[in-house]
Amino acid sequence: MIAKTISGLEDVLAIELSVLGAGDVMKLNRAVSFSGDTELMYGINYACRTALRILKPLFHFEIQEQKDLYDKIYEFPWEEYLDESHSLAIDAVISYTVFTNSQFVAQRSKDAIVDRLRDKLGKRPSVDLENPDLKVNVHLFKDSCTVALDSSGQSLHRRGYRKSTGPAPINEVLAAGLVKLSEWDLVTPLFDPMCGSGTLLIEAAMLAKNMPSGYFREEWGFMKWKDFDATLWEKVKADRIALISEARLQMHGSDRSDRAIDSARENLRFTNLYEDITLEIKSFEDSKPPFEKGFIISNPPYDERLQIEDSLVFYKMIGDTLKRKYAGYTAWLISSDIETIKFIGLRPSRRIPVFNGPLECRFVKFDLFAGRKGSGVEVKQVNG
Ligand SMILES: C[S@@+](CC[C@H](N)C(=O)[O-])C[C@H]1O[C@@H](n2cnc3c(N)ncnc32)[C@H](O)[C@@H]1O
Repeated sequence: MIAKTISGLEDVLAIELSVLGAGDVMKLNRAVSFSGDTELMYGINYACRTALRILKPLFHFEIQEQKDLYDKIYEFPWEEYLDESHSLAIDAVISYTVFTNSQFVAQRSKDAIVDRLRDKLGKRPSVDLENPDLKVNVHLFKDSCTVALDSSGQSLHRRGYRKSTGPAPINEVLAAGLVKLSEWDLVTPLFDPMCGSGTLLIEAAMLAKNMPSGYFREEWGFMKWKDFDATLWEKVKADRIALISEARLQMHGSDRSDRAIDSARENLRFTNLYEDITLEIKSFEDSKPPFEKGFIISNPPYDERLQIEDSLVFYKMIGDTLKRKYAGYTAWLISSDIETIKFIGLRPSRRIPVFNGPLECRFVKFDLFAGRKGSGVEVKQVNG
C-alpha cells in the first residue's frame, strides 16, 4: 500500500507505520510504501496521524501510447468492485508522461471504467466528485501507470473533531507531524501561545493519550467497498480504543483573538479535552509562562495568510518575549517567513524543512537555557 503525506513528514510517517505493524516500509517522495493485510489497512486508517490517505494498488501496467490507458483500465474486472448503484470519482496524478493534462487522464480512466460496467452489467455507475462510493487513484510516472483504490475516501486530516476554526487553521496531519518532529516527550507541559482553534494542542493531547487520530471520524472510503468487513473493523477500533490512556495532561493555549479562543473552546468541549488544556485570551508579548518549564510548539501567523503589519517587528517581539520570559523552555515554531525568522534573534538548534500546503516552511527549535540566577536568560544570541 501507499500512505501519502506532506513533504517533510516522510520520516515520521515511516516510523509511525512501522509501529502500527506495517511491513516492508519504504520512504518515497511525499509518501511511504508498506505491506500489510486488510486489518492493518483498517488500523492505519483509524490510527495513523501523519498520513493523508492510504492507497491500495489494484494493478500496474506500462503505457506506450495514449490509447493504452483506456484499454488497460477497461480490461480490469471493475464489476467485482462496483455496480450501477455505486458512484465513482477518479484522482489522477501525472509526471513526465505522454499525457500533459491530469484532468484528461482522469476523464479517460473514468470512461474506461464506466464503459466496462455498461458492457458487463448493462448499466453504468454515476460520477460523484464530492462523496463517491469508490475513489480510484490513477498514478502515471513516465511510462508506468498504477491504479489504486483510495481506502481513506476523504483526506485523513479531516479528523472529525474540528467544529470551529480560526482564519488560518493548520492542517491536522501537519500539526501531528510537527509534534512528532519536535520529539516532545508526551509529558512535559506544553504551551501554544498563538493557538488559534487549538489544533496543535489537540493533536498533541490525542498523541499523549494514545487516542486514535480517527476517534472522532465517522466515514472512511473502505466502508463502501463490496468486501467491507464490519466485524473486523469493529475489532480494529475496539483494540485501539482499549489503549487510550486516562492520564491528565498539562497543556495551555492562548491567543490574542477572542474568536480564536472561542473556536478552541468549542473544539475542546467536543473532544472532551477541556480538563487537559486550559485556554486564555492573551497576546504573547503580555503572556506569563503558564508552567515553570515547558515546551512551546506554535505556528505564528504567516504573512501570506494573515495580515501582519510588520513581520520583522513581530518576529523580534517573539524573540524578545522568549528571551525575557521563557528561560528553561524549549520552543518550536513553524514559519514560511524563512528570511524573517532571523529577526527572532536567537540561533535555532534545529531547522527542519516542511511544507504547509504550497508554502515552504521551516520548523525551528530554540533552546532557552536558564542562565545564572538574576541574570535572566542565557541564550545563544544572533546579532543583526
Ligand atoms: C496561523 S494562526 C494559528 C492557527 C492554529 N494553529 C490553528 O490550528 O487554528 C496564528 C494565530 O496567532 C494569533 N496571533 C497573532 N498575533 C498574536 C500575538 N501577538 N499574540 C498571540 N496570538 C497572536 C492569531 O490570532 C491566530 O489565531
